[in-house]
Amino acid sequence: MNPELRALLALIERNTGLRLNSAQTTDLNLTLEKLAASQQTSAADLVRAFQHGQKPELLAQLQTKFTVSETHFYRIAPQIEVLKNSILPELIERNREKQQLRFWSAGCSSGEEAYTLLMLLEEIGGVQNWDVEVLGTDLNPAVLELARAGSYGHWSFRDTPLSVMERFFDLNGAKYQVRGDLRTRAIFEVHNLLVPPDANRKFDLILCRNVTIYFSPQTAQGVYQNLARQLLPGGWLILGPSDPPIQPDVIDQIALERVMLPGVIVWKTPERIQKINPVQIPINLKPQPPKPEDWQQNLKQGYHSLQARSYNTALKQLRRAAFLEPKQALVQIGMAQAFLGLTQHARALGALRQANNILLSLEPDAKLWGCDKTAQQLLQLVNDLFDQAKVSP
Ligand SMILES: C[S@@+](CC[C@H](N)C(=O)[O-])C[C@H]1O[C@@H](n2cnc3c(N)ncnc32)[C@H](O)[C@@H]1O
Repeated sequence: MNPELRALLALIERNTGLRLNSAQTTDLNLTLEKLAASQQTSAADLVRAFQHGQKPELLAQLQTKFTVSETHFYRIAPQIEVLKNSILPELIERNREKQQLRFWSAGCSSGEEAYTLLMLLEEIGGVQNWDVEVLGTDLNPAVLELARAGSYGHWSFRDTPLSVMERFFDLNGAKYQVRGDLRTRAIFEVHNLLVPPDANRKFDLILCRNVTIYFSPQTAQGVYQNLARQLLPGGWLILGPSDPPIQPDVIDQIALERVMLPGVIVWKTPERIQKINPVQIPINLKPQPPKPEDWQQNLKQGYHSLQARSYNTALKQLRRAAFLEPKQALVQIGMAQAFLGLTQHARALGALRQANNILLSLEPDAKLWGCDKTAQQLLQLVNDLFDQAKVSP
């Protein structure tokens, strides 16, 4: 294999997670040669340009050419059964008070999976006036256009009961159009699963099926961590049966439970809301306010634990410091380092944003308690950590 092709394969895998098979690699080689000729340059120079961040749109087009967008409605019958008979009814029951449901079809391709969730909900019934939203995301903008249009040919229905086609689609020429009211509940956005998602966007159910099958096992585990962090307490994560399973160490880190349902393995986050009997506190037993120096003790202990790579302990101590003194940049920087140690990149980014804001509010040459660096120097450190945190786990 020539060096430029090897370099391009590595770049594609780093950007998207995709590892191309031998047929795709042959195709990539031809595509690269053609593309280089059309750009009046050599394949080696074009790959070098990509490596230096030039021609990003051309690289993005090349990458998406090698995604596999195969999908259809009601795909993988045992999972559809489990969704319809166990998972969705459980979620409906648990959210009855809130009357809100949030689903994410991650790597949704042309949208069949996202719409299937809405159709299953309607089949179960009882949520007509609820606030229901399905987010469908994909790396490839072209398939998302198809998803938004919601118009499908026969091939999308190879596992779909006729009753579903009659109930949820309008025949439009040779195409079947998803009913308008269902389409308003689905939104489609470009998102690369290697990038940590917005930490504030939480879901009751995430489907990421037949996507990580094309990734290295290590990349797949990083994606699972990112996905699991977006789950609400008691939320469900479903992978495709051929996708690499979630490894035990990842399950421990993100506190997932492996749940076996008829013919299907799925993952669930614990429902952290425990029922606690109210305790009567005598009126004269007010909790004592913490001593003013406590945050500094906790900060010091937190940094010692960081040095010892005891990241969970460091987090406990630093969180205590943050509780006592929320506006300390060193506390947030320490927390970001602990999160990075635990490969919780999205949370690291959150702490770094806070540190950045605090430091920007200080004079550049201000010195912080317990530290010989200026605010300006710490800002540089925060920038370096940002770069680390943005790299996918
Ligand atoms: C085989 S389809 C799966 C569609 C659907 N989930 C299903 O099971 O029917 C895989 C999809 O994953 C998308 N994909 C691949 N790498 C991705 C990445 N890094 N981020 C987001 N989507 C990605 C592809 O563009 C493709 O549309």
